[in-house]
Amino acid sequence: MSKKGKEKVKIIGIETSCDETAVAIVEDGRKILSNLVASQVDFHRKFKGVVPEIASRKHLEIINSLIDEALFQANLSLKDLSAIAVTLGPGLIGALLIGVSTAKALSYATSLPLIGVNHLLGHIWANFLEDPQIKFPFISLIVSGGHTSIILVEKVGKYKIIGETLDDAAGEALDKIAGFMNLGYPGGPIIDELAQEGNPQAINFPRAMIKKKGYDLSLSGLKTAALNYVTRVGQEKINVPDFCASFQEAIFDVLVDKVTKAAQEFKIPRIVLAGGVGANTRLREKLLEEAKKFQLELYFPSPFLCTDNAAMIAAFGYEKFLREDLVTLEVEPDANFPLR
Ligand code: KG4
Ligand code: ZN
Repeated sequence: MSKKGKEKVKIIGIETSCDETAVAIVEDGRKILSNLVASQVDFHRKFKGVVPEIASRKHLEIINSLIDEALFQANLSLKDLSAIAVTLGPGLIGALLIGVSTAKALSYATSLPLIGVNHLLGHIWANFLEDPQIKFPFISLIVSGGHTSIILVEKVGKYKIIGETLDDAAGEALDKIAGFMNLGYPGGPIIDELAQEGNPQAINFPRAMIKKKGYDLSLSGLKTAALNYVTRVGQEKINVPDFCASFQEAIFDVLVDKVTKAAQEFKIPRIVLAGGVGANTRLREKLLEEAKKFQLELYFPSPFLCTDNAAMIAAFGYEKFLREDLVTLEVEPDANFPLR
């Protein structure tokens, strides 16, 4: 069934876990032949967050034409493909359902093997699209809108969550504060930009759990501290670039401290950054500094591959394809899909 041997493996990836509809075709898990992302952000902006019903509807409207376009841009037809990889979760269940139903229908119609991908492992594997030589084991810092975790990746199939946020994800905290300050949506990239003109030491926000042993962290106290600061000083009197720079600095100090400590304590000399917040200029800069200090290898994808895309789903799908780790047409999406 599987096309192995010398023939190149061409996998179509389908991703609909949140508010981007994405389809990509990747060759041998590394070479992007096409990579399309249709963002729905304009439809969610006025709600300052993702509205699940809108997300599902928009995915449904565009998914088939994105598949056609991805094939067209890669100059391929369905019969040239080796397999279909789709995100099973974690994510919004109604949104995931659109991608999974589409992938199942495509698999049924073409008899192509179907692969179920974990969205977070996809984020990690975005790194292999640009740095195929990354060695195992590594410590991954995943920072997105829904997740903030430190994961020990020993090899394909062996993952251990060694720390995670006990409350808000980093992207969620950035988006919420930006919403509160009426800076726009999504907040992460806006704060990133504004912070570049600000002083990260201007406001001393709390760094919760930084001194605590272990790798878990908490960001809800920071969020409350920032909201209290705004109420106390008055929104119109706030120096917005300083506020943004100080707020993100507080998050990144904790993240960078925890992930570099993990690398040292587990004696693993490489860190792999993943997820939308991984696109942040300051986070990348701070990690680079610390990695240099402790002589750790550091990998991060281009900003476009940090945020949700389907090339990363096809890239991880390739690993499962090689291991013949397939799913059947009975597969269902799972909002809390475990790391596997
Ligand atoms: O990985 P992603 O695209 O979707 C999820 O799986 O959640 O991450 C989206 C998150 C949002 O919270 C967004 O504000 C944040 O990533 N983000 C950024 C930047 N670009 C996207 N946060 C900080 N700096 C950025 N440049
Ligand atoms: Zn994501």
